[in-house]
Amino acid sequence: MTVFVDPGLPADAMRQSLYDGNLIVLTRLRSVSDFVDYTKEQLADLFKPHDPEHAHEHFEPPQMAEMLGAWKPAFIHAEASRKHICSIITEAGLPAEHTHYDVPKPRTAFPVGHLTTGIAFAFPWHRDVWYSAPAQQINWWLPIFAARPDNSMSFDLPSFGKAVPNSSDAFDYYRINASRLSTATQVTKEVQARPAAIDHTPAHDLVVLPSPGSVLLFSGAQLHRSIPNTSGRARYSVDFRTVDARDLLAGKGAPLADVHCTGTAIRDFRNIADGSAFAEETVVSLFGAPPEGAMLVFSGANTATDD
Ligand SMILES: [Fe+2]
Repeated sequence: MTVFVDPGLPADAMRQSLYDGNLIVLTRLRSVSDFVDYTKEQLADLFKPHDPEHAHEHFEPPQMAEMLGAWKPAFIHAEASRKHICSIITEAGLPAEHTHYDVPKPRTAFPVGHLTTGIAFAFPWHRDVWYSAPAQQINWWLPIFAARPDNSMSFDLPSFGKAVPNSSDAFDYYRINASRLSTATQVTKEVQARPAAIDHTPAHDLVVLPSPGSVLLFSGAQLHRSIPNTSGRARYSVDFRTVDARDLLAGKGAPLADVHCTGTAIRDFRNIADGSAFAEETVVSLFGAPPEGAMLVFSGANTATDD
């Protein structure tokens, strides 16, 4: 496995490299810097007059949960946010007509002991594909302030493509989708089904720290986790996902060695060029029919798979 920095690969080769388990950091995209500025401004506004990286020193967890519970959905669904991430994806070279994306998720990781459940949950070792992500999913992760080894995320690259004991059999996408709306109210208790590796201690624990203005790309099949934040500073990052429609139809993607969840997150994705979702008949032919009565209205605000 390799961590490539600005590999200069054509889009097809770049996706394949990610499906093969490599990581890619892109440092030269103007659109990423623009998006960081846009997000930083909103955080400064939300916590003013306090420094966002020290906001947890000024707000108690219930108040913080309330503030984030209002801001996060507004950010996720803002037209400006959508435009920013579409610019990032196309500037990276992925073709708009074949690329589908999911809405950007702002993530907050507060120092241990503060708000660490519900809307600011720190994810243990997991693969996004345990949360019903498709094998073609590419994750895009970018920090808003300088990320540090003691507040970011890490990868277990040697476990890529290898079966790891996990609790993904308890996850059903359709059932989780119905319970999404209650996340912001969970301040002290974590009750959602969160698939995770069982008793997992990796031989190697790789931390990649792109600077603000850079973006890290990795397959949704990578085993990764949030590092419990002991830095004293709040960590803010944004992530979003893409799926190439041609790869999906051709069955090209990352290996799925240990996925036991049910349902699919594919209905959350929209085409960059025209905003269309995947046709329901395509979804059913690839992933099977949803159970009778499943909620198929997808807000895009899914809770799955923070980093
Ligand atoms: Fe994740």
